[in-house]
Amino acid sequence: MTPVDANTRLKEIYGHPVGRDAIDKVLLQLGRSSLWVRNPVVANLRLSTVARLVRPILGEEFAPSLITVLADHNHHHEPDAASGGDPTPSGTPAAQPPWWRRAVFYQVYPRSFADSDGDGVGDLRGVTSRLDHLADLGVDCVWLSPIFDSPNEDMGYDVRDYRAVMSEMGTLADLDDLIAGAHERGMRIILDLVVNHTSAEHAWFRAAVADPDGPYGDYYHLQPGVPGEDGSGPPPNNWASFFGGSAWRWLPEAKRWALHLFAPGQMDLNWENPRVRAEVAEIVRWWRARGIDGFRLDVINYISKRPGLPDGNEAIGALMGFPGIEHYFFGPRLHEYLRELRATGFTRTAQDPRPPSTVRSRGADGTLGVPEPPDPVGVLVGETPGVGVEMSRLLSGARRRELDLVFNFDVLDGPGKVRWDDYRYDLGYLKGFYLDYLARLGPDDAIALFLDNHDNPRMLSKVLGTRDRDPVLRSAAAKALATIQLTLPGTPFLFQGQEIAAINQDFAAAAELKDVESVNRLAELRADGVAHEDALARVRPGARDHARVPMRWEPGPTTGFSTGTPWQVGREDSVGFTVAEQGADPGSVLSFHRDLIRLRRAEPALTDGGFRALLPRSREYFGWVRTAPGDGDDWLVEVNLTDRTIKRPRGLPAATGVLGSHGLARGPRMAPYECVVARVLIAG
Ligand code: NOJ
Ligand code: MG
Repeated sequence: MTPVDANTRLKEIYGHPVGRDAIDKVLLQLGRSSLWVRNPVVANLRLSTVARLVRPILGEEFAPSLITVLADHNHHHEPDAASGGDPTPSGTPAAQPPWWRRAVFYQVYPRSFADSDGDGVGDLRGVTSRLDHLADLGVDCVWLSPIFDSPNEDMGYDVRDYRAVMSEMGTLADLDDLIAGAHERGMRIILDLVVNHTSAEHAWFRAAVADPDGPYGDYYHLQPGVPGEDGSGPPPNNWASFFGGSAWRWLPEAKRWALHLFAPGQMDLNWENPRVRAEVAEIVRWWRARGIDGFRLDVINYISKRPGLPDGNEAIGALMGFPGIEHYFFGPRLHEYLRELRATGFTRTAQDPRPPSTVRSRGADGTLGVPEPPDPVGVLVGETPGVGVEMSRLLSGARRRELDLVFNFDVLDGPGKVRWDDYRYDLGYLKGFYLDYLARLGPDDAIALFLDNHDNPRMLSKVLGTRDRDPVLRSAAAKALATIQLTLPGTPFLFQGQEIAAINQDFAAAAELKDVESVNRLAELRADGVAHEDALARVRPGARDHARVPMRWEPGPTTGFSTGTPWQVGREDSVGFTVAEQGADPGSVLSFHRDLIRLRRAEPALTDGGFRALLPRSREYFGWVRTAPGDGDDWLVEVNLTDRTIKRPRGLPAATGVLGSHGLARGPRMAPYECVVARVLIAG
């Protein structure tokens, strides 16, 4: 498109993928509908006029900031027409979709999954000992949150050594066993690649501090202060850390400022430096040779920062909570870096050795076959906070050869809400979010479906509020969420505990919150004069700790997680919501997940099939049809999105229930959160 300036009309900006996502994001944050921009009068306004209108909310600099960000991406948003995707291994038909399109991923938070040695900390042997649970569930790929050597300022998201396992989790040999054990059971395994930053204890950073003008000084964003600087002056810019305070800290030994978008011990790497990019690619190759099938890439959309690191717009900062984001959340060289990393790190060459093990194939009925040839490209799953639908497509469109899948976080909170708000999430919003998202995807695009992870309170608790303690509602709503996640088009990512309806915890005291983010936020509120109880009440709803309590394997004080004292306490005394109890009950949430995944594997319509929404405007009924790609059956899926009994709409396709939360009969009413998966009957 022609360069954007003050005369550009709003509709043209909205026609630019980055412009559309930026505007939608602002509207979502303000709790407004994006229909507003499509109003013809508004759409025809020039940016200068819009800027004047929004000045009271978004300030003077909003329009110029938007122009700068859009200008970064003027040449990058056209799909690369010359390329037809990744090279395919000889003998494989090009039409075969990559394995991850049909896969069910499962995220393990190793610290809280299973502890094999009784030190209270989950470990790799613990994960290996529970692989059968994952295989029974039907998982295709296990993702492990960080396990590399780390001082754990942010639970492994601060890596000290990318080629070693943190001592409390085990050894490289334990990891080799885990990889082999997963492959043997027909499951792939991916790790967390945290390369926007390293720990301050990483050898590169120590070398940079020792000699900031030496070869490692340029691995990070180090900035000299003004002459005579001792760190008491203002930092180089106004960017904020996601964990509180400035994103800069003064290094007295080096007489430099250092950038950290996260905790003070998480130092941002300088991706402008080609040596940094080559190091990262080498790390990936090293792990691929060991048998790892790919990576989830931590905050990977933050790696390209605008040169010069200019101040962030204060109004955008206030709106989004963090000044500076517009300069790095979709930076100028992001696409270039990702293409390079895919090609040089993730793509196998003919010279690469065959890894010690590869995944065994698994048939539609679950039967295991022989080990498959190594994947030509390791899977790249991008963690991409802040990107909208169009940016997601730019990052993961198949022909673009960047990432394979990305997480779009806009699903996690309702309009105008943020994670810290105490509110009941409306599933009507979730329905609208997915319908809009799916309608905008082309055949080249992919979508990751996730509702929970280690950075968020449990979706089940956001939906149910305090009623999450009611076992009937808890089970019903958990099955409804599973049905949505496992039968919409896309690649589902389950997080540990979802399969047994894990909920939030009643953390009673500040000391029960262990996460650096919770701890810092509490301290900031207290420093602002907020009373202790109030401060706790303002941290608890959004605390990441909810998702990090030990997995509940069996009843009892340590829930079968450990024989020692768990590093983190869960505060739940519910009966029936452990793996042991649920596994024995065919009507349980766990059994429902298993049945659903088995059905998914057997019925191509549920993975590869088309999608048609029924009654798209209803906020209480979510129904859709998955149409078979070949001559298989079509499927109807229905979910009551509310905690009320609703009328089942009329005029639906005739279908017979095969799996349901409240039986298989499809009567005139649907119970609270009732869900049914039904085979469509062919007329005649
Ligand atoms: C995203 C991770 O999921 C989160 O846990 C971490 O704190 C930040 N990235 C920083 O690495
Ligand atoms: Mg242990």
